[in-house]
Amino acid sequence: MAFEKEIERLKKKWEELESPELVEKQHQKGKLTARERINLLLDPETFVELDPFVESRFQQLGMTEKKIPGDAVVSGFGKISGRQVYLFSQDFSKMGGSLGELHAQKITKVIELATKTGCPIIGIIDSGGARIQEGISSLDGYASIFRAMVRASGVIPQISVIVGPSAGGASYAPGLSDFVFMVERISQMFITGPEVIRAVSGEKVSFEDLGGASIHSQKSGCSHFIFKSEKDCFLGVKKLLSYLPQNNLEDPPRQKGLFAEFFERENLRLLEIVPEDEKKGYDMKEVIEEVFDKNSFLEVQSGFATNCLVGLARLSGYSVGLVANQTKFMAGTLDIDSSDKVARLVRFCDCFNIPLINLVDTSGYLPGTDQEHRGIIRHGAKVLYAFAEASVPKISLILRKAFGGAYIALCSRQLGYDRVIAWPSAQIAVMGPEQAVRIIYRKEIAESKEPKKLEKEKIEELKEIFLSPYQAAKLGQVDMIIHPKETRSILIKCLESLLNKREAKIAKKHGNIPL
Ligand code: HXC
Repeated sequence: MAFEKEIERLKKKWEELESPELVEKQHQKGKLTARERINLLLDPETFVELDPFVESRFQQLGMTEKKIPGDAVVSGFGKISGRQVYLFSQDFSKMGGSLGELHAQKITKVIELATKTGCPIIGIIDSGGARIQEGISSLDGYASIFRAMVRASGVIPQISVIVGPSAGGASYAPGLSDFVFMVERISQMFITGPEVIRAVSGEKVSFEDLGGASIHSQKSGCSHFIFKSEKDCFLGVKKLLSYLPQNNLEDPPRQKGLFAEFFERENLRLLEIVPEDEKKGYDMKEVIEEVFDKNSFLEVQSGFATNCLVGLARLSGYSVGLVANQTKFMAGTLDIDSSDKVARLVRFCDCFNIPLINLVDTSGYLPGTDQEHRGIIRHGAKVLYAFAEASVPKISLILRKAFGGAYIALCSRQLGYDRVIAWPSAQIAVMGPEQAVRIIYRKEIAESKEPKKLEKEKIEELKEIFLSPYQAAKLGQVDMIIHPKETRSILIKCLESLLNKREAKIAKKHGNIPL
């Protein structure tokens, strides 16, 4: 009986903390409360809260009056679609969700528990950053979170959902996450806010233009998914998790149920989608839609470096990581941003046993002084490193062009691809014939009485020799040349033949990917 009274007293205390005024204040900003967010994300009745009594030890600068049980963050565990997850949700209505010593301790605890038990961790971020009143203890709090996140990297999927400000130190938890979700007009992520920027440099900028969802989805590349509402955003998190294993020791789940699409089918529509004329672009998303399980493509970073598509998809119900050149933009070339985007996705998939499939159609790395001076060599090397290092099944399909560095990075058997498949329209060469002729026949053309004619003849000769997949097939570097209509069925067969792939690695502390 005494227990019941005590529990009733605690419940009342909690209700007071969630005062209607504070809830209303949050709603007026168009935002949900920390607990409403947890309820949206988790299966009903599965949430178990940890550390609700934790509170700040600080008394200076008005903290005695401000501090509250829970220390402005709700943390614990629960289930999403029946699978266990750990999470925390910062409460902006209390001290701006700012991070003090104990707030940080709560977050570090759930990250460590998630790591130990092999469950994804989800951070719901709505915070003004390091709690100024707690000084260095706040900074050390971030340090403990970052260290825990780095230790968890590659062990469990780490997801950050930004639903409010993510200021200062708060922005580096997303920065260290595998995936960052943002909501239009609600999320803002920045290291230093507009006030500080104005004081330091005189530059005037709004929160939205500095670190809004569009900026991070299109320009900085710091965000992976953008949504119009918090509700859609949390649905997006659930969808992403459905492709992923719980941890690095599991395989990703094969989709079951009503929407699972296990069968092979012909892809006759591919002949309409991909023009024979290699100079014409097309929408690679249509190819993906035609080949992979219907509506299964979950594009990652869809607004950033649009010349390459990356994401997760399903093939006969199996989760796969997809990398594809989008010829609609910049002829699908690999530039600095798309190299970063591709390498990051590849490394994530490799951590979590998700096989990789490439759809290749590109003339290579983007030429130009801008790219060279900004470090395309450093960034492009990430793609080479990530693919060469990845030990998951790697399948590459060449649709049309695979020139130069892009051939090496995206489809060379010698880089470690397990299957290299080509359509008869595939063209594999060191570079385009027009450029090649200017290099190897420069003198002959210059000395010729009919330079234009000779140039044309030589281009045709090179096209004849190189612009087909047969040279590579003769050398055993292309495993098979298939009719486009067989694409889905061959990819399924190849994928299933590789599911038990094991690759021994050289013992070392860790590699040194170019950064
Ligand atoms: C303590 C904070 C706080 C902080 C906000 N609050 N940020 N308290 N430490 N870092 C408190 C406010 O005092 C206020 O308390 C309440 O939260 C709500 O804040 P408002 O400013 O009224 O809300 P809003 O107008 O919506 O603006 C939100 C905001 C703004 C944009 C986040 O508060 C802001 O600019 N905060 C500082 C952001 C920042 O520069 N953070 C970096 C910290 S340094 P009351 O009691 O009035 O309700 C850092 C170090 C790591 O993180 C750096 C690594 C790179």
